[in-house]
Amino acid sequence: MRQILLTLSLLALASCGQGTTPAQTPTSAAAQVAPGARSADEIQAALASLPAPYNEANFDDGRRAFAQCRSCHTINAGGANRVGPNLHGVFGREVGTAASFNYSQAVQDADFVWDADRLDDWLANPQSFLPGNRMAFAGIRSDEQRRDLIAYLMIETAEN
Ligand code: HEC
Repeated sequence: MRQILLTLSLLALASCGQGTTPAQTPTSAAAQVAPGARSADEIQAALASLPAPYNEANFDDGRRAFAQCRSCHTINAGGANRVGPNLHGVFGREVGTAASFNYSQAVQDADFVWDADRLDDWLANPQSFLPGNRMAFAGIRSDEQRRDLIAYLMIETAEN
């Protein structure tokens, strides 16, 4: 009897089509994408359009690498500053110019525009790239992980 009840409740769950996430009832592949998020096809197209070597990056690994930044940085448009500034639109932006963020003197005195090469140097070793900055982060030693993370950021921090 117990076995039958269990089977029945499993069947009931399965018939929802979404046993693990009953709150969502997507009707198509597009509907599974959160508002503002990109579909797998859009991500592939965006990756392919990046300059080398970023067009060969692994987006999912980049997203995983961003876990190291997430506690201090948001990347969405209009996202809050946390310990670090919002990074939306960071590529092509003058260093130290996120709205309403109180940068260190080292960053305020710096004068360049963020591009992939600069971000790569910064992420490899923030303190040697810009001594005296206040980003408490040791750096990412793996070239591949920085490539994947930068590609992820190129896509996710872009205006959309
Ligand atoms: C412990 C918090 C912390 C972590 C973790 C962290 N950051 Fe930061 N980040 C900061 C702070 C604080 C600043 C501002 C530094 C300053 O003013 O000296 C900053 C600045 C930056 C800037 C310069 C922004 C600008 O407007 O010029 C970039 C780019 C950046 N971080 C990217 C990253 C990335 C990518 C990661 C993950 C690999 C990361 N940070 C991890 C705190 C953090």
